[in-house]
Amino acid sequence: MNGICEVTFQPYGKRLSVESGLTILDVARRIGVDITSLCAGKGTCGKCKVKVEFGSENVEPITQKEMKHLSREEVNEGYRIACLTRILGKMIISVPERSRVGKQRLQTEGLEIPIVLDPSTKKYFIDVPRATLNDPRSDEERLLQSLIDRYGLRDLTIDYEAARQLPVSLRKENGRVTVVVWNDQRIMAIEPGDTSQRCYGFAVDIGSTKLAGFLIDLNNGKVMATAARMNPQIPYGEDIISRINYSMAGQDKLEELQEAVIDGINDLINQCCESAKIRPEEIYDSSFVGNTCMHHLFLGLTPKHVALSPYVPAIKRGVQIQAAKLSSLNTYKYGRVYVAPVIGGFVGGDSVADIMVADMLTSGETILDIDIGTNTEIALGNKEKVTICSCASGPAFEGMHIKHGMRAATGAIERISIDPETHELSFRTIDDALPVGICGSGLIDLLAELLKAGIMDCKGKLLDKQIPPQLLRRGTDGIAFVIVPQKTSGIDTDIVVTESDIRELQLAKAAIHTGASIMMIRMGLSLNDISKLIIAGAFGNYIDPESARTIGMYPEVALDKISFVGNSAGTGSRMMLTSKECKIYADRIAEEVHYLELAIQPEFIEEYAKSMFFPYMDLDKYPITKELLTRLNRSRDSLEGVGFVS
Ligand code: FES
Repeated sequence: MNGICEVTFQPYGKRLSVESGLTILDVARRIGVDITSLCAGKGTCGKCKVKVEFGSENVEPITQKEMKHLSREEVNEGYRIACLTRILGKMIISVPERSRVGKQRLQTEGLEIPIVLDPSTKKYFIDVPRATLNDPRSDEERLLQSLIDRYGLRDLTIDYEAARQLPVSLRKENGRVTVVVWNDQRIMAIEPGDTSQRCYGFAVDIGSTKLAGFLIDLNNGKVMATAARMNPQIPYGEDIISRINYSMAGQDKLEELQEAVIDGINDLINQCCESAKIRPEEIYDSSFVGNTCMHHLFLGLTPKHVALSPYVPAIKRGVQIQAAKLSSLNTYKYGRVYVAPVIGGFVGGDSVADIMVADMLTSGETILDIDIGTNTEIALGNKEKVTICSCASGPAFEGMHIKHGMRAATGAIERISIDPETHELSFRTIDDALPVGICGSGLIDLLAELLKAGIMDCKGKLLDKQIPPQLLRRGTDGIAFVIVPQKTSGIDTDIVVTESDIRELQLAKAAIHTGASIMMIRMGLSLNDISKLIIAGAFGNYIDPESARTIGMYPEVALDKISFVGNSAGTGSRMMLTSKECKIYADRIAEEVHYLELAIQPEFIEEYAKSMFFPYMDLDKYPITKELLTRLNRSRDSLEGVGFVS
């Protein structure tokens, strides 16, 4: 080995020749590759994991210090701790998603799925001959014939509202008009001149907690602007059942909830239109996906029966209506609104979108798809059969009901690590601001790190004897672990996690794990049958898959089988807006996917109780985590009573 080594970082394709002896993190910094380094390279946080793809013989052997942060599985796959690994020769290093920094915090992003652009709504520019004494055909007849001659559109009829625009529009630009056509059947607008380049749609994901909107250019399918905001229905109840109860108090209450969500959507429309410099009236088509309750409230349908056994929705198939039917919606009044189909009372259009994005109905591989939210939907299967269930996981991972919990906003602690031996704590906040609270991804990291450091046991109990005195607080709600002392926090108090916070998170993770576990039992599948674990949902995009697995949020799937698709409800809504085929696929999903009612499954209570443990009562189902905890000597003090003996 000479003194110069060539180092390549993937997936960036960046390459640099450096003197040997530098750490991987040193080289990454030199070349501008961002690797998470919460402890600034001291080797205590373990967050700077990278994979040596080529040249493993050209690094120093793995040390005990590194082993503290790596599972056996990771060691076998070639993972190293970047700040502790010195480079001695040529190598190729890949930086996994979870070790990269700088992800956007705009929680609307989702995958771009390639589709054939074929929106229901299109514009056609046409030059219509003038009426003369020799050709006294009506305006309608001349227009329709011109559209047949030029575009072959034979089955068109004109909406009443468009017919009213026709005589004026035709004469304003000497017969040059642009017609807006829905489904090659209905003309919904007639505009003077050539406006064919300005044809827009709006796709919305109506979440119980958050609304996300996407302004789309229907001529090319591109996203022109996105916006997100809280659902204005939240003051009526954080959970769906409270909102259903409110809506049942009378027609006016139902309308109030409908107006609230439409107001929120209008806000998104206005934000997007302003940023893209278009007028809301230029939005001719829109697409909405949401859980069944949101679907009903948006359409003004009573969701009462969704909440009552046997939990049936009023409408299941996709709905296509004129925007004017939702009178306050701020788009072209006589444009179209599409609302995605639902699968059942507790599984709505957002799940249809998840399954569409994962393309589960045509997949030869068995996919476990988890969309984490206040309600978490879990789909499992392949082209033979797909089953779905819904779990009430609650809003704890969104920071609600957690003492210092908060949403993923500036100042939220989003990554956290605790050195298993020294208990030195490192963290990263969003925008590198002073810490003001902790968001979902930080909470999941925190639980995993407390467990690995032996500060919390498998039942979620904080072990006060293991907590350094300066990090221990006692209050009316029991003991708490200090994440950030007041003097370095951005608020006037310590940022802590209490045992009751842990309890809330434990309930949430247990709900998700129980759902996944029962689905596997019912479908007769084992862990080895699962080829892919897809985590959907805007929040899911930010969690560390290893931390989530360590706490037992889902079964112990190999990390390389886990992928993130972000806000797939939003992605699905965009797909349905821009492709008629996707609307047909959506109806097929709603028809063919089987719904599993978790609560009536005989294993439910037992499985839920077992899932309350971190990661799970039977550690043999978590061999990787078991091995890691054993190596960290967590067998006796923190795992007692779990049937785990080293
Ligand atoms: S930066 Fe490498 S362990 Fe923290």
